[in-house]
Amino acid sequence: MLKNLMEWVEYRLPIMRVANQHAIQYPAPRNMNIWYMFGFLATIVLVNQIVTGVWLTMSYTPTAEEAFASVEYIMRDVEYGYILRYMHSTGASAFFIVIYLHMFRGMIYGSYQKPRELLWLFGMFIYLALMAEAFMGYVLPWGQMSYWGAQVIVSLFSAIPVIGPDLVIWIQGDYVISGATLNRFFALHVIALPLVIVILVFLHIVALHEVGSNNPDGTNVKRKKGSLSEEEKTKYKIHEYYTDKYDILDDIVPFFPHIVLKDLVGFAVFLLVFCYIMFFIPEMGGYFLEAPNFEIANPLKTPEHIFPVWYFTPFYAILKAVPHKLGGVIAMFSAIICLALLPWIDRGKVKSWRYRCGLHTWNLLTFAAVFIFLGYLGGTPQEAWKITASQIATIMYFGFFVLLFLYSKNERTHPVPTRITE
Ligand code: HEM
Repeated sequence: MLKNLMEWVEYRLPIMRVANQHAIQYPAPRNMNIWYMFGFLATIVLVNQIVTGVWLTMSYTPTAEEAFASVEYIMRDVEYGYILRYMHSTGASAFFIVIYLHMFRGMIYGSYQKPRELLWLFGMFIYLALMAEAFMGYVLPWGQMSYWGAQVIVSLFSAIPVIGPDLVIWIQGDYVISGATLNRFFALHVIALPLVIVILVFLHIVALHEVGSNNPDGTNVKRKKGSLSEEEKTKYKIHEYYTDKYDILDDIVPFFPHIVLKDLVGFAVFLLVFCYIMFFIPEMGGYFLEAPNFEIANPLKTPEHIFPVWYFTPFYAILKAVPHKLGGVIAMFSAIICLALLPWIDRGKVKSWRYRCGLHTWNLLTFAAVFIFLGYLGGTPQEAWKITASQIATIMYFGFFVLLFLYSKNERTHPVPTRITE
């Protein structure tokens, strides 16, 4: 009966075909390593944020008068409310840790290069949406940092010539950050942006599965149908797969069970760390939840230091490195745009850093170090030396892209193997 029922459904809705094509039998390069688990982890964290978010919404009140108290109510009176809140707040930081590692993997293995440019762009749109989502979520508890953080970020828009001041009022829905702002941020945080993120993730995966996964060697496991010679056809085993566009070489393993098992090991380790933080150090020394946010928002009292949460601090340091307000805003947005333009800035033909020149390895590692250093500078109280340091680090940040553009054209690379199995 069950088989008949499944066939009945399958005839009308191709659940098994899609599951086979995009999960169970998805042809994954056999050399996928630990860097390849962060996409899976990002998906898990996304689900965690949506599920815990829905439950938090059941007890949260989006008004300036009651928001702070409703979060305290969740923490103290709602059954398991404190777990829900800490799952959500720890999840927000975990999301960015996972995403930064996921993006860096794309950079070291050249996963943004042809034919994965659109996949990378969808990723960058997800990243932008995620930043907006996290920013608005941080405003909701209506603590001191929520209020003053929102004040700093929204006022950046006033730097835009001509329309800036009106734009700020339009965003706030009031002349100052107020209950009206909180209410609209709530709407955007709980429905509009999650919807956008889920749709973008769907497109991200569709784009990935259309061209196939890259791998640590940067070789191509799919060949255009008809492009293999007669000799190659006898030499290589070609996989039967749901595509008439490609021949798939035997450099692959099916996603289930091989990659799923690897991902599950990564997930187990992730879960241990996540639960440790959630249960024992949910504030993470003020990095995940900042001390001033345990005080109710007070528009008449500015906190001594205002910083965004750690995942924004590299860009905040770039913003502050430029003495001119509009200049700072332009530098900050350019820093993100440069990342989005990587597929065109990098003119190299070889993808993986394994086979690229030594300068490329150093450039990538320096970039990562500079990004972390900028994060430190943007997230600690301002001192005179830090302004100069942020300026140097900002130049080095953009220097990465300039250098890459210059050397990638005529780079001396190592020979890339044509097959993973070789
Ligand atoms: C909610 C956020 C995201 C989710 C759920 C997600 C999910 C995934 C998944 C499941 C994969 C396949 C497994 C893997 O290669 O790790 C993947 C691949 C990829 N993602 Fe994401 N992703 C997200 C954000 C991003 C961002 C922000 C970027 C970069 C801007 C990005 C760039 C890529 C690239 C280039 C690949 C292909 C990697 C390769 O084949 O070597 N993703 N993503």
